[in-house]
Amino acid sequence: MKIEIAKYSGYCFGVKRALNMVEKTLEKYSGSGKKVYTLGSIIHNPGVVIELSSKGLISTGDPEDIEPDSIFIVRSHGMSPKVLKRLAGKNIEIIDATCPFVKKAQAKAKKLEEQGYFVVVIGNRDHPEVIGIKEHVSGAGVMVIEDISEASAFLNKKKVGVVFQTTQTADKVKEIVSELIDKCRELIIYNTICDTTKNRQDSTRKLSGKVDIMIIAGGRNSANTTHLANISSSENSRTYHIESSDEINPEWFKGSEKIGISGGASTPEKDIIKIKNMIESIDS
Ligand code: F3S
Repeated sequence: MKIEIAKYSGYCFGVKRALNMVEKTLEKYSGSGKKVYTLGSIIHNPGVVIELSSKGLISTGDPEDIEPDSIFIVRSHGMSPKVLKRLAGKNIEIIDATCPFVKKAQAKAKKLEEQGYFVVVIGNRDHPEVIGIKEHVSGAGVMVIEDISEASAFLNKKKVGVVFQTTQTADKVKEIVSELIDKCRELIIYNTICDTTKNRQDSTRKLSGKVDIMIIAGGRNSANTTHLANISSSENSRTYHIESSDEINPEWFKGSEKIGISGGASTPEKDIIKIKNMIESIDS
């Protein structure tokens, strides 16, 4: 079997940067008695989360659990400025690992509101990045649109400004935006899909179209990995989304010659290599 890894695959710039900041922070405060927190998992990858928790990183679901005089790391997804303000008031040191691409989407949304536009965020409403972008806009002048049916139900407005969740697919946002055109006089669109996401989606699409089987590696709770799996499935019905090499079933590869592997932006390179080695061992 010939195995090819997608040209753009695995950790993106924003995730690498955030993990680096976490490692440095844990090292700096190790033995100091200070607790280091994140709100939710630092990245959507169960293996990495377990590793960092063994080094002392505390992941909590409720900001109220964060103790005064501790350290709080904002994830690459960014977060609500209101929550950050509350934490800062409790004498908690904030380390901001928000990805610069997410910061750009937050700033564009804020600017649109200041210019009098009704802000639409195209993305998954429960995703922390989308919640954070939305909360950078105050008041009722913002809404999230997840799919074409919600775009169809959108009530006419005079001035509409649109930003995208950084990991959306170009096809999906095009579909939604074309529906919005008929529903406003003035439409401003900021394409805030990050370059990394686009590169990963394009290279996954290309590879999945030329192999017999495509493996997509990464957390099932990772939005960008799930998008890669969907893109690959649309090109290749023999697509398998797995979180680790343990999920590989040798039966999948019977009679196959070309295998492709791609990993989401929160998938460590070592996981991708492990999957490749595992498939090679099936072949030998
Ligand atoms: Fe940033 Fe894009 Fe990664 S927004 S966190 S570089 S997927």
